[in-house]
Amino acid sequence: MPEREGSEPSLVCFCCHWCSYSGADLAGVSRMQYPANIRIVRVMCSGRVEPYFVVQAFLHGLDGVLILGCHPGDCHYLTGNYEARNMVAATRRLLDCVGIDNRRLVLDWVSAAEGTRFAEIVTKFTNEVKTLGTLGAAKPTDVAAVNFRLKAAIAAAQGEKLRWVVAKQTEFATKGNRYGEVFSRHELDRMLDGIVADEVMAQQILALLNEEPASVKEVAASLKLPPPQVLRSMLALRRKGLVTLSGVQGSSPMYKRRNVERF
Ligand code: FES
Repeated sequence: MPEREGSEPSLVCFCCHWCSYSGADLAGVSRMQYPANIRIVRVMCSGRVEPYFVVQAFLHGLDGVLILGCHPGDCHYLTGNYEARNMVAATRRLLDCVGIDNRRLVLDWVSAAEGTRFAEIVTKFTNEVKTLGTLGAAKPTDVAAVNFRLKAAIAAAQGEKLRWVVAKQTEFATKGNRYGEVFSRHELDRMLDGIVADEVMAQQILALLNEEPASVKEVAASLKLPPPQVLRSMLALRRKGLVTLSGVQGSSPMYKRRNVERF
């Protein structure tokens, strides 16, 4: 997220090819007025917009992300827009974790015949983000801290665990897991909350240990998290072979990252 001056937000709108993009096109050829802050990116289906795309957009300095797809029941890939709904729910949690107001991410539906609706949604979203302000206008120290957390969120969004859970939400809510347990929306939300928070914290720890070995206390102080929570995550990373003991300083075990790679 670069530092930026000015109050005009930069926004991106992912439109599905089959409905919303045509709706946007209709708004354009009908000369409907809507704010020029938004750039349109065409995707085949709203279900193609993974959490990773959204977090990456914020890291590159955008102030808001709008995802538009076909109305429920009208997706040309049958369930793509329902998957988009699941992905947006997970992405909102990622944004909460990194300290970005989740009102900066909106999912809505626009059909090919709804040029007016497209212009209205874009105008409403732009005004909402304007009231929230631009992200890059924060203090440089805040920008650096948010960027650090955004990179951790990107690594978490690309991780196998989060991708798997996000993709399985519909199945868990309808058919159930391999033991036949069907989960309510509330249970799925709680599970997602826990997994997103754990994955982002693990990626932040790995990023810190990339720099130099550190104790649990030092990592907890850097991340402003309770030491027992960091210890639990550190031990899990050690069991996975991602973190190893590098020595003892005073009475504190020092940990380092095993495979040094920067995200
Ligand atoms: Fe439009 Fe899937 S094709 S949301």
